[in-house]
Amino acid sequence: MSLCVAVLGATGAVGRTMLRVLEERSFPVGELRLLASERSTGVRIEYRGQAHPVAVPDEDAFRGVHLVLVASGNDLSERWTPVALRMGARVVDNSSAFRMHDDVPLVVPEVNGERLSARPRLVANPNCCAVPLAMALAPLRGAGLTRVVVATYQSISGGGAEALARFERELDSPTAARGADDPPPLAFNVIPMIDRLEANGYTHEEMKIARETRKILDLPELPITVTSVRVPVRVGHSHAVNVTAERALTPDEARDLWRASAGIRVLDDPEHGRLPMPVDVAGTDDVVVGRVRRDLSHPGGLDFWVVADNLRKGAATNAVQIAEQLTRAEVASR
Ligand SMILES: NC(=O)c1ccc[n+]([C@@H]2O[C@H](COP(=O)([O-])OP(=O)(O)OC[C@H]3O[C@@H](n4cnc5c(N)ncnc54)[C@H](OP(=O)(O)O)[C@@H]3O)[C@@H](O)[C@H]2O)c1
Repeated sequence: MSLCVAVLGATGAVGRTMLRVLEERSFPVGELRLLASERSTGVRIEYRGQAHPVAVPDEDAFRGVHLVLVASGNDLSERWTPVALRMGARVVDNSSAFRMHDDVPLVVPEVNGERLSARPRLVANPNCCAVPLAMALAPLRGAGLTRVVVATYQSISGGGAEALARFERELDSPTAARGADDPPPLAFNVIPMIDRLEANGYTHEEMKIARETRKILDLPELPITVTSVRVPVRVGHSHAVNVTAERALTPDEARDLWRASAGIRVLDDPEHGRLPMPVDVAGTDDVVVGRVRRDLSHPGGLDFWVVADNLRKGAATNAVQIAEQLTRAEVASR
């Protein structure tokens, strides 16, 4: 079986990674339609040795498409996802447009992949921090999680292709003059605010991570507090996590639970400098956990550090895994 696949936002940071992951995993792509803005008119992207033209989306672009992978912002998803669904396609959406809709599953296959067995037409792919966080927390649920405190260290690519390009320019000319209204520099800086502020003082990014993690874990009441920080790293988001649980987990128990979990790798040998770090994790699909230790300030507390590639497991790989599972379910139902 081969499918007609459209990638909306194919020229962006996630879209280009999506194409690489589809190719690496030999996803059954028969026909490929690449969609982006007018800015990308004339751009061609290589896929399996063939240069594919990029087009601007219109209704015709979704005709006959089996699967749409959305790798663009919310406005585009809100505009084109309903069109694609109406035309009979399935949609896996990387934007946050539909993630918190009650009737839209928000899926990390290793955690709640069973949500795909009903073969939903629209599946939301979670935020790039919610994916690794949910994966690291899911194996600990049996201890009765009572609170989660997270600080994220999010790479520049999390802000998309334009942010990455600005970062490179700033690295090249660190002393370039900055206007009063310019955004803070990304290079040589740490910015404790990602996305807009909400009325409660948290940023939208922080609230998304908390809400989405609760939805994926199916723990709607779990207290989660997040501080999201942009750091001058190209790819790979890191997370300092503190959990408290009804039953205290020892570091050894937690490591064993993670080792038994698909998609998680434990790398916890700080004495020999073997630690999860974005430079090593970027380009891979693992969620890597380390620096596991008892929280000395709380009897049921545990501290650990989690790293994942935000463009791969945090976005493209997770979306392609969802598409693979949907495709398998489709074939099985025939
Ligand atoms: N970056 C991450 O780590 C990450 C992780 C998880 C989820 N996400 C989500 O994934 C989505 C894509 O993120 P990204 O980082 O890849 O962003 P990006 O690099 O800015 O890419 C955006 C894509 O959307 C296209 N686009 C923008 N305006 C358009 C228009 N009017 N018509 C058609 N196409 C248009 C762009 O095309 P042009 O190149 O032609 O402008 C580009 O292909 C976002 O919803 C983001 O929140 C991102």
